[in-house]
Amino acid sequence: MLFPITYRVNSRGHMEVGGCDLVDLAGKHGTPLYVYDEDTVRQRAAEYVSAMGGAGEVLYSAKAFASPAFLRIVADEGLGLDVVSAGELHLALKSGFPAERIYFLGNNKSAAELELAARSGCTIVIDGSYEFELLDRVVPQGRRVRAELRISPGIKPDTHDFISTGQLDSKFGFSIENGQARTAIEQALAHPRIDLVGLHSHIGSQIFDLRAHAAAMEVMLDFVAELKRDLDFEPGVLGAGGGLGIAYTRADDPPTPRAFVENLRGALEAGSARRGIRPPRLVVEPGRSIAGPAGVTLYTVGSIKDIPGVRRYVAVDGGMGDNIRPKLYGARYEVLKAAEPEAPATVRVTIAGKYCESTDILISDANLPPVSSGDILCVPATGAYCLAMASNYNGIPRPEVVLVKDGSSRVIRRRETLDDLLLAEVF
Ligand code: LLP
Repeated sequence: MLFPITYRVNSRGHMEVGGCDLVDLAGKHGTPLYVYDEDTVRQRAAEYVSAMGGAGEVLYSAKAFASPAFLRIVADEGLGLDVVSAGELHLALKSGFPAERIYFLGNNKSAAELELAARSGCTIVIDGSYEFELLDRVVPQGRRVRAELRISPGIKPDTHDFISTGQLDSKFGFSIENGQARTAIEQALAHPRIDLVGLHSHIGSQIFDLRAHAAAMEVMLDFVAELKRDLDFEPGVLGAGGGLGIAYTRADDPPTPRAFVENLRGALEAGSARRGIRPPRLVVEPGRSIAGPAGVTLYTVGSIKDIPGVRRYVAVDGGMGDNIRPKLYGARYEVLKAAEPEAPATVRVTIAGKYCESTDILISDANLPPVSSGDILCVPATGAYCLAMASNYNGIPRPEVVLVKDGSSRVIRRRETLDDLLLAEVF
């Protein structure tokens, strides 16, 4: 699924999402423009929730993309939220997200962050023994915070295969292998400010091979059985993280959210039965696979530079400031001409950004119909980790974001102004 579910080519031959013509949207709102399709967000979220049934909770991982309107949709679909900073928590609370459905993660939470998390009533996922000290300091006497421990199961996935090495060398989580997880559980159970409700894990992101998650579940369940046997502690909740991959190009064929959850549920239920333990409630926290396919980016073509026999650079009005992924991860995207997405792609071009770095290239060697300055280009599958990692590098304001549904568009984040860039400056 490369496009939002409402994508079609309309009677004018233009790309359309959420009933809105993308060429018209670019004209109305300007570019670069991030367009989110409400139906896709809801469908992806609902698929997770329905696959989970009553077996546990689905959290949305706010780091993929968050804004008040977006978070309200996610909350409305019944999801909880994973946040990793005071900033994300503040946004969530200001957006009206129910605190009891929020989980606060992160490997180096500050005292101020833990204090805010404790005060708000969210669940804290402890990641490092230093947090035991901090919680002692910031949680008022007589009060306890609902907490989980982040455990490192020692499974290292990638998109093709997985290998169970490298577990010790991660900044995240208490390692089972070297005994730190066991010690941390004992510390948490004895801690006067902590109500330990479960364990948490997360093995990686943009994963297509679900066997890595099933393998991690086995390791976690072995640990759960050990805790029951030795400490008479039965975690009520087992977090399996996020990580389901999405299609960025036509060649990608990731598993569905339903398959992702069913794989984990199967491993959890069968594995618990085999070990004679009560299955804990499963928690998953997808980010990319909910926000990613729902978003597309629109750019306007500006300068075109031909180097005969070498390359044709087509420069757009955004780039690494709103989508760092090609530069940071070598991520590959598709690009289409919004006014004629199905015209034969007869020219080979390289889509360059407008940032002052020669590596600010969005897509090398893309095939498009002939393009001219002023044309609108659409890059699909940009809903996750693009705007979320956007910067104001080169003094360029961040783009506007619209939410589309049933033929209407609504601005959910306005375009930044030049004065916005100066907000924190001291003159
Ligand atoms: N839970 C934890 C603990 C995580 O660290 C992450 C992502 C998630 C959940 C959500 O994972 P997802 O379902 O989105 O794969 N900036 C990178 C991705 C970084 C992911 C970090 N952690 C990118 O653009 O590919």
